[in-house]
Amino acid sequence: MSHIIIRGGRRLEGALTVQGAKNSVLPILAATILHPGQTVLQGCPHLSDVEASIRILRHLGCKARWEGEALVVDAGSMSRRDIPDHLMREMRSSVIFLGAILARLGRAEMSYPGGCELGPRPIDLHLTALRQLGAELREEGGRLRCTAQRMAGREIALSIPSVGATENVILAACGAEGETTIFNAAREPEIADLQAFLRAMGCQVRGAGSSTVCVAGRRPTRDAVHTVMPDRIAAATYLAAVAAAGGQVELHRVNYRHLSTVTAALHGAGCQITGGEGRVVLRSDGALRSAGTVRTAPYPGFPTDAQAVLMAALLRGQGATVFVENIFENRYRHVDELCRMGADISVADRVAVVTGVPRLYGADVRATDLRGGAALLVAGLIADGTTRIGDIHHIQRGYEDPVRDLAALGADIALEEPPPAAHQ
Ligand code: UD1
Repeated sequence: MSHIIIRGGRRLEGALTVQGAKNSVLPILAATILHPGQTVLQGCPHLSDVEASIRILRHLGCKARWEGEALVVDAGSMSRRDIPDHLMREMRSSVIFLGAILARLGRAEMSYPGGCELGPRPIDLHLTALRQLGAELREEGGRLRCTAQRMAGREIALSIPSVGATENVILAACGAEGETTIFNAAREPEIADLQAFLRAMGCQVRGAGSSTVCVAGRRPTRDAVHTVMPDRIAAATYLAAVAAAGGQVELHRVNYRHLSTVTAALHGAGCQITGGEGRVVLRSDGALRSAGTVRTAPYPGFPTDAQAVLMAALLRGQGATVFVENIFENRYRHVDELCRMGADISVADRVAVVTGVPRLYGADVRATDLRGGAALLVAGLIADGTTRIGDIHHIQRGYEDPVRDLAALGADIALEEPPPAAHQ
């Protein structure tokens, strides 16, 4: 098992280019199968979740190959409509393939998705909406069997602005006859990026980024070249790291507007932040104060995915910060690990109160989930001594190479690989 080793106490200085967005590229990879032709995705991040999507694409009969930073997918040879259980378990976003396979082939078979480490993550909204479009869904032996010989566009109101359900319905609606209108759609920028990709393929989608999205059922007509939007959560992670460690860092390839609630919280905690076209600069003396109360909410609210890294940044801040997690039930699993490092955090249901302590201590800790793992990276940078992070496969799901990036900024950080297995 690999570990990340951090010796805390270094200031961070320099510049970084932010990777393409995980939460954008995963639904786009599912969307590539709508078109029996070729897609070129530029700025595609090298992540284990992307590799998991590639395994699904190849299982379905599509071709996928890397050309440097670009991933080229050819879905012309797609021949299967099922996703086996072991591939579904690898990540939750695999469920977005459901709408896409139905739109392309009219039938799909898969099990329930994995990746449910944040409390219950049902897919009831996805399934209800697909039924409304005319899909018949049966559950047999833990497998979902879906048939949709003819889907018809209609009005669909989501009871929660679910990101995944919005994406699944958009993809299915591309294969339906007539117009679908989604009310109470999630407004995350990644959905607008999916729309940009679909439009590049010739689909008719409008409204993404607002709470009403319209899809005129129309199959893709052309090969597309698309550049994946920058990852606002990776950007938030690096901003939190510099805020905590102190120093000055310029991030390139960011959309400053997508980060507004994160930068507002960091500004409230005492950082100086300026942003412009494609860049953001953060300066911090490392002596943070409370960020007040941080409530996670659907976009444009404070992202649940940035809750853990902001919490880690404030562990040595002056005063108490209150976090209210409104999206997921079980999103404080990183708290126990942070407390092993000397943090003072009390959790009651959806509320966590972080009281700044003068010192944190390096410890052996484990990444409990993707963003919880990123929080340990931030905490390690401001802890005395050595922090050794295990279960880093969680971190690798969403960060291309955090060791490379943080080392480039001056952190004392390294990847510790297991010794090669002895030959028998
Ligand atoms: C996406 C993001 C994830 C982020 C989350 C919230 C991707 C690949 N993942 O996840 O990083 O943390 O949005 O911003 O884009 N819900 C239901 N029934 C459903 C669907 C969702 O009750 O059928 C609930 C969930 O349990 C959760 C809330 O709705 O409490 C929001 O979930 P959702 O927006 O669907 O998140 P994901 O798409 O899974």
